[in-house]
Amino acid sequence: MNILLLGPPGAGKGTQAKYICEYFHIPQISTGEMLRAAVRSQSPLGLEVKNILEKGELVSDQIVIELVKKRLEETDVEHGFLFDGFPRTLPQAHALVEAEIFLDCVIEIQVSDESLIKRLSGRRVHLASGRTYHTEFHPPKVAEKDDLTGEALVQREDDKEATIRDRLAVYHRQTLPLIEFYRNIPGLSFLTIDGDQPIEEVRKILLDWIFEKFFKHPGIES
Ligand code: AP5
Repeated sequence: MNILLLGPPGAGKGTQAKYICEYFHIPQISTGEMLRAAVRSQSPLGLEVKNILEKGELVSDQIVIELVKKRLEETDVEHGFLFDGFPRTLPQAHALVEAEIFLDCVIEIQVSDESLIKRLSGRRVHLASGRTYHTEFHPPKVAEKDDLTGEALVQREDDKEATIRDRLAVYHRQTLPLIEFYRNIPGLSFLTIDGDQPIEEVRKILLDWIFEKFFKHPGIES
């Protein structure tokens, strides 16, 4: 099962991706995480994209497409994967089609700009695992520490308020057209969910929908 989570920065893609991937045993492919890991390791790619990420702009389609194609050569994607943050431009979506990499469903998480700004400015992350917290909406057990390892949480460079507004503008301009694109693909399951609800509510709706769509035996009433 190949899933795409679409939504603006801070919609909760990373948060929900963790639940879906754990539940359905598929890997999360987050281009944002992959790019940030490259920056942390100071690889040539990391040095090339560091400034772009900090400014909240998009990395070139060519770089991201190559990164994803390489990731899809790994064996853990055999039974499916979840894309989080890719594709986010029409050329990236077309590149997937050309490479014959198909999706089973697309889930769009909608959240108001006002909530997104609150969410991103309060977000804290555990760098090693990608686990995400929020100072108010999803606080760790001990302030500023990861629940599982006790290691320090950090604020992402691009989570400063001015950059958040730039990222939202980029989303509206370059990623929103993907919604029409995917809605118009025959046979592709598409769900739009109101992400302005508590994390647990969103989680339940998403997991139930995927389960109903793909795992319930057709013709058997429960
Ligand atoms: P990326 O890492 O993909 O960032 P993003 O799309 O901006 O998304 P975020 O990670 O900020 O938000 P999210 O939706 O995952 O929200 P989260 O679950 O963390 O990309 C970063 C950068 O990399 C881009 O700007 C670009 O430069 C580059 N890049 C990546 N992919 C690229 C591509 N394909 N092409 C070109 N460039 C690319 O939640 C946010 C906060 O809200 C958390 O604190 C969480 O606890 C909280 N929260 C979540 N859900 C709820 C809820 N329901 N209620 C209350 N709080 C909630």
